Amino acid sequence: MAGNSLAQVTPTVPGTDAAIEARIEELLTAMTPAEKAGQLTQYFYFGSDVDPSGGDLAGASENTAGGVEGALARGEAGSLLFMTDPAEINRLQRLTLDGNRHGIPAIFGFDVIHGLRTILPVPIAMAASWDPETIEHGQTVAAREARAVGIHWAFAPMVDIARDPRWGRIIEGAGEDPYLGAAVAVAQVRGFQGAGLGTPDRIIAGPKHFAGYGAAIGGRDYDEVSLSDADLWNVYLPPFKAAVDAGAGNIMTAYMDLNGIPASGNAWLFTHVLREVWGFEGFVVSDANAVRNLMTHGFAGDLTDAGVRAVNVGIDLEMAMADPAYGYLPAALEAGQVSESAIDACVRRVLRAKLQLGLFDNPYVDEDRAAEVLADPAHREIARVAAERSAVLLRNQADLLPLSAESLSAASGSIAVIGPLADSRRDTIGPWVFDFDLDETVTVLEGIRQRVGTTVTVGYAPGIRPAQRHFASMFDMFPGNAPADPGPDFDEDAELQRAVELARAADVAVVVLGEWQNMIGEAASRSSLELPGRQLELLQAVSATGTPVVLLVMNGRPLDLRWAAENVPAILDIWYPGTHGGHAVANLLFGDVAPGGKLPFSWPRTVGQVPMIYSHTISHEPANQAKRYWDEESTPLFPFGFGLSYAPVEYSNLALDCDSVGPEGSVTVSVEVANVGVWPADEVVQLYLHQRHGTASRPVRELKGFRRISLAAGESQTVEFSVGPDERRYWNAAVRDWVLDASVFDAYVGSDSAAALTASFEVTGS
Ligand code: NOJ
Repeated sequence: MAGNSLAQVTPTVPGTDAAIEARIEELLTAMTPAEKAGQLTQYFYFGSDVDPSGGDLAGASENTAGGVEGALARGEAGSLLFMTDPAEINRLQRLTLDGNRHGIPAIFGFDVIHGLRTILPVPIAMAASWDPETIEHGQTVAAREARAVGIHWAFAPMVDIARDPRWGRIIEGAGEDPYLGAAVAVAQVRGFQGAGLGTPDRIIAGPKHFAGYGAAIGGRDYDEVSLSDADLWNVYLPPFKAAVDAGAGNIMTAYMDLNGIPASGNAWLFTHVLREVWGFEGFVVSDANAVRNLMTHGFAGDLTDAGVRAVNVGIDLEMAMADPAYGYLPAALEAGQVSESAIDACVRRVLRAKLQLGLFDNPYVDEDRAAEVLADPAHREIARVAAERSAVLLRNQADLLPLSAESLSAASGSIAVIGPLADSRRDTIGPWVFDFDLDETVTVLEGIRQRVGTTVTVGYAPGIRPAQRHFASMFDMFPGNAPADPGPDFDEDAELQRAVELARAADVAVVVLGEWQNMIGEAASRSSLELPGRQLELLQAVSATGTPVVLLVMNGRPLDLRWAAENVPAILDIWYPGTHGGHAVANLLFGDVAPGGKLPFSWPRTVGQVPMIYSHTISHEPANQAKRYWDEESTPLFPFGFGLSYAPVEYSNLALDCDSVGPEGSVTVSVEVANVGVWPADEVVQLYLHQRHGTASRPVRELKGFRRISLAAGESQTVEFSVGPDERRYWNAAVRDWVLDASVFDAYVGSDSAAALTASFEVTGS
């Protein structure tokens, strides 16, 4: 590929703002309405010879001849999604530029959710690290790999607050809490974008789905959402606001109706909140087919109407599978149904992103360098460390963990590893990944085997066949996505018995249970939280042998672990830990690293309790909080923020630097945190705030600060938090505005949302 700009791999510094703006205006003057509509259109494309859907998603458009490549070549498409092969991306970029008389390159987007080639733990796991640095590093790696193959923009982070674990997409976010969610969102935007658009090795971040998608009624994906303004401003919008303030270059719309108006055609959300109130200057993309869906909602009358209404609320780019609504914009303009200025406003924002990225000067990627970047061993190390920092130790009776490889070895001991998930590479990396390399993926079984070497016998038995979804996943069109069934020769009862005998003969049984990865994620809502298939039966049978059991949970949502929480001595939540997940798990099991992750959601006992959150309000019978159902506790199985380490941690000397401040004043809260055990510990020190009275009812407590620290055995550290107006301000439905109430505030500091150590202060004036 000599003689072209492929050699220029380092983006030039994008022009000054003024130069960029001048260029945009120049282009706008020269572009036809059809060319403008093309810039506002993004197609799904899997490449000319790859179409996992068998044709449905190939992007062939009803109103464009020659499919996606034809549209690109005629300047009728300005963006593609789903391409990951650098050679193909270069080829398509060349096609685009050859066909575009203004030299406007295409922008390539992709779902870079938790890694491209190096797969990081799933997003809910990264959030469970409560460690912005780990999260930022992870997305830096993802951005570097993506940019190297020619992807310019990630449809991530998903910053939707999720409070109903029946909703499968809870795995893609940071859980139930807006404060944690905002911190995680900022870390991800920084990781993806670095110093800003155009930074080498970085890509545009696209926080999604604006807004309220996580509150789908019944936890059913895409179903309608009804949220009060107070819920929106105080809970669902803060992670988006934080991402916008951190400089996110893009926002994606949401599929569902929000309070009766489709989110993707919602002027209040996009014109008022996003642009007028928050001053967002980036571009907005619709979710896939969401503009067309304005008809499905019973909102738009036809495709033209859908396109016009989306453009009018500032949905700049339409992500389309076929027959884009924006293809009808030129005719709508001609007919006076849409104004040129509305179209131009969208085109400006798309062109600005392309110019800021430096794409006009460097549209291609270096394919050799891409291969090197994808193979970078440092990326695997970052993924492994992230998996170690994400794991949450839920139970550890009689210090069963960490296991001692030395003692097992000295005694010629053995470990029984049990469960189909223990040796499934595809499940180890979780959903929402497409460009992975299973050959380099390390399962739990492989990780344990490599960690203990040959002096400890490690036996393996799946015990049962993988459970299957009752209704197939749309992702099952990708080969290997659905769990492989071992076939008719697999005698399940005999295999279960073999697993039991293996456990009986072993010194310890490591049982890996959870959900197969196609059971969680988009279009993976569930009506139950039980362990799918015969997994509980397997766990109970193995436990009945009397061999100590370590349960490893592979999941993206809380599961019904009531039996295990009473009967299994050690439970470690490993989530879907990614490419080197098996190594991370082995390092945790054998005490090479201390677990320190914390739950980013309240873990319910049963599906009947959901939605349940720690930051609820109370009204009648405050003493009866745990007995709100007659048949089951109404408390969580594990509270929000919960997670153990191998050493006990004690809190003392909670102190405030003053006991009264004015409305703009800040109080410094300090606490001493001590490791009183013999192992190193990782702890996330958490600060919660409760406002006793005011101009609205306030939650029993809300997270307002956290810090992850490492403590050597016997070490203690003092941790400080500042509680100022930002921590106390909330949106009040009575006055329909943000308020700072005069009140008494209780600060709680500790290991989780049930922390008991407390001190109070007064805020005077309002
Ligand atoms: C639909 C999903 O809702 C969205 O999150 C994703 O980015 C797009 N499809 C593209 O794959």
